[in-house]
Amino acid sequence: MMDFKIAMAGFMSQVMQRKVSFNPLQLVLTAGATPAIEILSFCLGDPGSAFLIPSPYYPGFDRDIKLRTGIDLIPVPCRSSDNFSLSMTALERAYNQTKKKGIKVRAILISNPSNPVGSVLSRETLYDLLDFATEKNIHLISDEIFAGSVYGNDEFVSMAEVLDAEDFDRSRVHIIYGLSKDLSIPGFRVGAIYSFNENVVAASTRFARFSSVSAPTQRLLISMLSDTKFIQEFIETNRKRLSKMYTAFVGGLKELGIQCTNSSGGFYCWADMSKFICSYSAKGELELWEKLLNVAKININPGSSCHCIEPGWFRCCFSTIAESDIPLVMERIRRVTGSSMSHG
Ligand SMILES: Cc1ncc(COP(=O)(O)O)c(C=O)c1O
Ligand SMILES: *[C@@H]1O[C@H](CO)[C@@H](O)[C@H](O)[C@H]1NC(C)=O
Ligand SMILES: *[C@@H]1O[C@H](CO)[C@@H](O)[C@H](O)[C@H]1NC(C)=O
Ligand SMILES: *[C@@H]1O[C@H](CO)[C@@H](O)[C@H](O)[C@H]1NC(C)=O
Repeated sequence: MMDFKIAMAGFMSQVMQRKVSFNPLQLVLTAGATPAIEILSFCLGDPGSAFLIPSPYYPGFDRDIKLRTGIDLIPVPCRSSDNFSLSMTALERAYNQTKKKGIKVRAILISNPSNPVGSVLSRETLYDLLDFATEKNIHLISDEIFAGSVYGNDEFVSMAEVLDAEDFDRSRVHIIYGLSKDLSIPGFRVGAIYSFNENVVAASTRFARFSSVSAPTQRLLISMLSDTKFIQEFIETNRKRLSKMYTAFVGGLKELGIQCTNSSGGFYCWADMSKFICSYSAKGELELWEKLLNVAKININPGSSCHCIEPGWFRCCFSTIAESDIPLVMERIRRVTGSSMSHG
């Protein structure tokens, strides 16, 4: 429904604090961001080609991109010594190595704000990425599903904002968005591709036929999203609560001697528990994960599931618990990590 596309474009603009406006005609709606990512992959890559992706990355990408399209994902490792920020040298190295193997690189995929690290890409990095994509003549996919769930000191900048300001070749840029995170309605299944390439818009519109948003959902959301006063209040309250939980959770971990990287967006903190693992390897990491899950009953994600190359990092989701539960969570983590420490 065109009315829903208009409402969705308005919501995206509102989430990005009206620094960008989105054209409803460049929007393709899908049943969640998951099919949006797959559809875009079908449009941009052939089986046997590859996308570059900074790691650690959202584990769902392996399923969404590789499984049915036959496209491979090539991780570009980011390191703790760089605060897990993307190095353009590492990106070029991965590009060179992939090409050398005779594999065609078709795109770079970033998630901004990053799942799992929670960082946002600087404006400078966005320019670097656009330059890189232009130089190599490849596409750039920016998954901005957490665009409205930002709370940190670092400012979130949408790829769309950069394109508004500078004269880049837009036809290679595609944004993934959805309502699962910023509106907290993952079960509604609403996602979108926002592309500056009319061929991609046309092709993905056809693919989207297999993954449409139901009419009652669209109607309901037209009324909800059109209430811009409510939406504004929702976004602000959501950010305040995320910020509060982030601070409390990271503070709790700090008291246990666990440091997190500085997050500015998303539902997670990225915690360094490497000093609690018995062997400095993925195996040691999974042993600690298993203990946290089965003994402490704390469900967090091991970094290895996000293709992190340094063992001992964990993604902790802080948005699903109440603030009053934090002491209990910390006490449970302390019991397990405390006993690990005594083993050396
Ligand atoms: C970065 C990222 N992209 C996409 C998705 C998928 O979202 P959806 O539930 O709308 O399919 C998620 C969900 O966890 C995500 O974290
Ligand atoms: C990482 O963060 C610290 C603290 O903010 C800063 O001093 C350092 O320069 C950062 N390192 C890199 C490589 O960005
Ligand atoms: C990648 O290859 C190009 C062309 O061969 C070369 O100029 C560049 O230095 C290489 N970059 C890295 C990081 O290996
Ligand atoms: C995180 O941010 C705080 C406050 O801005 C700063 O003092 C600290 O050095 C940062 N730490 C890292 C590791 O970036």
